[in-house]
Amino acid sequence: MIKKLYEYIKPYSKYLLYCFLLVSTEVVCEMMMPLLMSKIIDIGIPNKNIGFIAGIGVLMVLLAVISIALGVANMKFSALASQGFAANLRESLFNKIKAFSFSNIDKFSTGSLVTRLTSDVTQLQVTVMMMLRMLLRAPLMLISAMIFAISINTQLSSIIFAAIPILIFGILLVIRTAEHLYTTTQRRIDSLNSDIQENLIAIRVVKAFVREAYEKLKFSKVNNALTEASLKAGNLISLVMPLMLLVMNSAMLAVIWFGGHKVGTGVMGTGAFVSFISYLMQILFSVMMFSFIFILFARSEACGKRIVEVIETNIDIEDSENAKDLPIKNGKIEFCHVDFKYVAGGEGKNVLSDINFVIEPGEFAAIVGGTGSGKTTLVNLIPRLYDTTSGEVLVDGVNVRDYKLETLRHSIGMVLQKNVLFSGTIRENLLWGNENAKQSDLEKSASDAQAHDFITSLPEGYDTELGQGGVNVSGGQKQRLCIARAMAKKPPILILDDSTSAVDTATEAKLRKAFRENLRGTTVLIIAQRISSVKDADKIIVLDDGKICGIGTHEELLKNNEVYKEICLSQQEGMVS
Ligand SMILES: Nc1ncnc2c1ncn2[C@@H]1O[C@H](COP(=O)(O)OP(=O)(O)O)[C@@H](O)[C@H]1O
Ligand SMILES: [Mg+2]
Repeated sequence: MIKKLYEYIKPYSKYLLYCFLLVSTEVVCEMMMPLLMSKIIDIGIPNKNIGFIAGIGVLMVLLAVISIALGVANMKFSALASQGFAANLRESLFNKIKAFSFSNIDKFSTGSLVTRLTSDVTQLQVTVMMMLRMLLRAPLMLISAMIFAISINTQLSSIIFAAIPILIFGILLVIRTAEHLYTTTQRRIDSLNSDIQENLIAIRVVKAFVREAYEKLKFSKVNNALTEASLKAGNLISLVMPLMLLVMNSAMLAVIWFGGHKVGTGVMGTGAFVSFISYLMQILFSVMMFSFIFILFARSEACGKRIVEVIETNIDIEDSENAKDLPIKNGKIEFCHVDFKYVAGGEGKNVLSDINFVIEPGEFAAIVGGTGSGKTTLVNLIPRLYDTTSGEVLVDGVNVRDYKLETLRHSIGMVLQKNVLFSGTIRENLLWGNENAKQSDLEKSASDAQAHDFITSLPEGYDTELGQGGVNVSGGQKQRLCIARAMAKKPPILILDDSTSAVDTATEAKLRKAFRENLRGTTVLIIAQRISSVKDADKIIVLDDGKICGIGTHEELLKNNEVYKEICLSQQEGMVS
């Protein structure tokens, strides 16, 4: 994990080096202080040598100023390195998530990805910064202070050696429990983020169903769970810290007791005693620093693992090695013995089994079937939003896995069942389909999608700002904008997944007419609930529970397909009643 993360800080190794140099020099300066102090007390004062005292005093002030300057420089470089590291990490996480396939996305919740991109990265950034400030400082300070202390008095130093194992034991205890606690904390932040996100996106639904009270309760549960986990982690530290302080202060008391005796009996000089105490303080301080670093490590380990999990996720849909940069011209679609399962190798039955059909270039084809029969799943296989479990999907006679993903997806205009518009103007949204489209092209796509009239009736026309997700247009208008966006690509294949469900029947009839008359040469595949939307298709594929149970025209299917007849019948009944 550390190796993986190290890559992101590598560009800043220059700063790491600076930090280490600065810290080492700073420690040397600090170590000199007690030594100089003891010289003043043991030599300067007894001899009443003012010159000597002033000289050493000036030296001490100088050293103090130098260490402050070094400390400031170290802070600057550690901030630069850690911020740069975090920015690098965030960027590559974001890019990785962008490259995720649909099945990769299925594995992580959005909330969890948000936490990983924000809170987890920030935690690592703080750790890197603290590490640069303390990781080298603590051992350097500990070792050099110990050497100085021993050189002053071995007997007194043995008290320190007794205290240190107890402190180390305390630290180990904290680390063991802390990592576990922090993993829980980060996971609870995930749930909180997921909950917030779901509620903000679906706030209208929540209000419509008067579910505020329920959602509030759910939120406060998640929120309390997080508080509880954070408190537990906090409690651990607040329990261990006083214990450690107790050990440290006892050691200090013992040193003063025994050392005081030695000074009283003249075995030890007052100056040596004072500087011994200073070194003892430094030793204890560095032990505290160690414990702090380890707690930080434990927390970061939990965060680091979660980040590395994203970085190491295998993107299962990528260009194959011998992917061809072939253009798609005709738009022929072919399925050969296609089986599909959402969890590859998982248990459970196939969502699609043994799907076989051909849609010729320029045909207007439709898929009908009950909800959950696998219609969306089937069309998602064409632009490789998912890969087949077995069997082949061919476009223009070439397996979709052999195309470059970019070419394949550029050649397929897809209006997803759950589609969204982005904040920005209508024009900006339509340009998603084709960045270089001219206004006349956009107007053509919009009028084919039956969107031009309502767009021009808006006060700002094509420059109307859409709210986030397109909140300020109606469901049917949004669907038509999505269709126009897909059409602006002028793709050889256009797939509409239930994209006219909110469009009224009259407008939909116009839309179908436009498909037939203005999209000659484009293969159109639509999924629709209403029989009226698919009646005049060249080919209708009837799906039932993941299997094809009939292919034909409306008339043919009416004659010999029970499932199709039933769908028609149920819709006629619906109209009568
Ligand atoms: N992302 C997914 N992960 C797991 N199962 C899914 C996923 N999407 C759909 N399914 C399941 O696959 C089946 C077919 O779904 P879908 O293709 O959306 O049906 P349709 O579009 O015909 O309503 C359903 O049983 C559904 O529960
Ligand atoms: Mg569907």
